[in-house]
Amino acid sequence: MASRSMHCKVLNCICLLLTLVSVGSHLEAKVTKSVFGEMPDGTKVEIYTLEEGALKARVITYGARLVSLEVPDRSGKTADIVLGYDELKGYTTDPKSYFGAIVGRYGNRIAHATFSLDGKRYDLPANDGVNTLHGGTIGFDKRLWQAHEIPHGVELTLVSKDGDQGFPGTLTARVLYTLEARALRIEYSATTDKDTVLNLTNHSYFDLAGEGQGTILNHLVMIPADRYTPVDSGLIPTRELAPVAGTPLDFRKATAIGARIDDDNEQLKLGHGYDHNYVLNGKAGVLQEAARVLEPTSGRVLTVETTQPGVQFYSGNFLDGTLHGKHGHVYARRSGFCLETQHFPDSPNHPKFPSTELKPGQTYHNVTVFRFSTGS
Ligand code: BGC
Repeated sequence: MASRSMHCKVLNCICLLLTLVSVGSHLEAKVTKSVFGEMPDGTKVEIYTLEEGALKARVITYGARLVSLEVPDRSGKTADIVLGYDELKGYTTDPKSYFGAIVGRYGNRIAHATFSLDGKRYDLPANDGVNTLHGGTIGFDKRLWQAHEIPHGVELTLVSKDGDQGFPGTLTARVLYTLEARALRIEYSATTDKDTVLNLTNHSYFDLAGEGQGTILNHLVMIPADRYTPVDSGLIPTRELAPVAGTPLDFRKATAIGARIDDDNEQLKLGHGYDHNYVLNGKAGVLQEAARVLEPTSGRVLTVETTQPGVQFYSGNFLDGTLHGKHGHVYARRSGFCLETQHFPDSPNHPKFPSTELKPGQTYHNVTVFRFSTGS
């Protein structure tokens, strides 16, 4: 009898423990706020820390940037898996990496720094040869966003005036970062008071082994896309939606980034590696898988889901070892990769691409989820 009641007690304890563990994994994310640094004019840049279970994300108001993302490996050991800097100055003086930033108004390139809308021509700053990259010289990545805490995360708002970087219409953009159920969710919305174009994305560079641990060439990548948008020498889409089949751009089956990156292939030469927009197979507007990445030594798995029609897979080809990031880590060529969920590059000049136009009365809305698990 005594042994039976002991048995019951043990069972009760195990049940309680299991309940606590499962409740613990669904706790509301804890959000805290502090000061990250000061702009040259003395304005304070805030940092929001989001914690949910073993996940921890930090977001700053300068460029609405994700500055760190701590994720456990298969043994439960956490590491920060995004490239960036310890201090604000790193971000404000870095000319070209866009580490962790929300890029806008137009993520990726607009050819010849111009487009026409409703019969009117708009000229933008050319900041990538003759083209416009990531919204111009002073894009959304270099702006101070207004932020406040929301359940599970932080909401950031930016008002971009009519004519900002040449784009028409006063645009109010909102970005919500939340941590829920082992995932970082980014929700974008925007409205305008005049017809305009818009393509917002997040420009985080990942190394699932932990930032600063070397190249990302061993990561196994899967992208569910039968087609991609080939580019010219300025990395502008040629208009074609080309099949990936039979090319080193085919990631429909999980393949190491480094397996074919230096193949004798014109597109890889033009991109200096992977720097291509993939046309996702699923239906745009519905949250769908855009990529799955496994880093074999840590076992960390990143699954990207999005409502966007495309994803730019960029293998960090232009990192060149001159940037000294967190903990003094030198970010060498291909030491991080980006999966920028987006509309296709240069869409305002390609009437057949999904439209990036936004009109007064409409609300732009997109969601991207970075989900974490482990595997082998
Ligand atoms: C582009 C690259 C560019 C990089 C800038 C990526 O989104 O596709 O071509 O060099 O951003 O850091």
